[in-house]
Amino acid sequence: MAVVVSPSELQALEDCLLNKSNNVALHTRFRALFTLKALKSEDSVKIIAKGFSDPSALLKHELAYCLGQIGKPTALPALETVLRDATEDPMVRHEAAEAMGAISNPSSVPILNEFLADPQRSVRETCEIAVAKIEWDNSEEGKKHHASINESTIPLYTSVDPAPPSSNLLLGNLNPEDVSEAGVERLRKELVDPALPLFQRYRAMFALRNIGTPAAVDALASGFSDESALFKHEIAFIFGQLLSTHSVPSLLQVLQNPSESDMVRHEAAEALGGIATPEVLPHLREWMNKEDAPRVVRESCQVAIDMWEHENSDEFQYANALTSAPIAA
Ligand SMILES: [Fe+2]
Ligand SMILES: [Fe+2]
Repeated sequence: MAVVVSPSELQALEDCLLNKSNNVALHTRFRALFTLKALKSEDSVKIIAKGFSDPSALLKHELAYCLGQIGKPTALPALETVLRDATEDPMVRHEAAEAMGAISNPSSVPILNEFLADPQRSVRETCEIAVAKIEWDNSEEGKKHHASINESTIPLYTSVDPAPPSSNLLLGNLNPEDVSEAGVERLRKELVDPALPLFQRYRAMFALRNIGTPAAVDALASGFSDESALFKHEIAFIFGQLLSTHSVPSLLQVLQNPSESDMVRHEAAEALGGIATPEVLPHLREWMNKEDAPRVVRESCQVAIDMWEHENSDEFQYANALTSAPIAA
C-alpha cells in the first residue's frame, strides 16, 4: 500500500531527522528516520542522504541501513561517498557497503571490490559479503528464488538481509529434518567454521534465524565467541529480529563487556530494547548513563530504552500505517 504524505509532513520529518531546531532528542530523530524508511520514496532517499554530515556515528549508520532497506539505486552515490571516506567511522562505512549489497546493483561490485583490502576489518568483510550477495542475486539459484516470490508470499522477516538463508531454508519452509537437533547442529558447525567463506557462514546464520527455536538461538549465541566484530554484530541484530527471551543472557553479556567492539555492543543494546523484558531495563539505563562508556553504546541504550518503552506501552502513534515498531539496525 503506497502511503502518501503531504509536502509539509515531509518537511517536518526532514526538520526532525536533521535536527534543524538543534533540540530534537536522538530517539525522536530515529523515529522520523523509521517513518521515512517506511515511505520508501525517492523523497525519503533524498532527505535521508542529507544526514551524513551529522556527528553521531550511530545515526549515520542507521541512515545507511535505511537507504539499503529502501532499495533505490538513487541512494548509491551517497553510499559510495560514505564508503570511500576513510575518516568516517568504520561502523558507518560498513553499513554503507552493506546497503550497496542490499540494493544489489551490479554496478556496485567493482566499487566494493576496491575495499576488499581495507584497513578496517569490518569494512573489508562487509564488502566481501556484499559482492557475494550481489553475485548470488544474479545466480541461477538467486534468480529462481526472486522469481518465486510474489504478492502472496508472506516473508518470515521483511528485512533485506546481507545473505539469504542456506539453500534448503530459502523460503522459510522448514522441514522436520532441518529443525531437528542434527539439522541445527549442522548449521551451527557451518556458522562457526572460520575456514568457510563468510557468505556461507552468514547463510547458515539466517537459516538458524528462520528456524528460530531455543536450540537455534543457542547455536547462534555460540557465534559470539568469534573474532569478527562484523559477524558478532549480525548475530546480535538477528536476536533483535527474533525477539526470543532465550537470547537475553548472551546479549546482556555482550552489552556489559567493555572489551567487546562498540558495534557489537550497540547491536546487543538495541536487540535488548526490542525484546523488552523487565530485567533488561536497568542494564540499558546503567549503560546509557555511564560517562566513560563509548558514545555509540550510550546512544544505543538511549534508543533501546525508547524501543523498550514503545514495546511496553499501548502507544499507537505509529499506527498511522507509516511504520510499525521501530526496528533499529
Ligand atoms: Fe550493521
Ligand atoms: Fe546497527
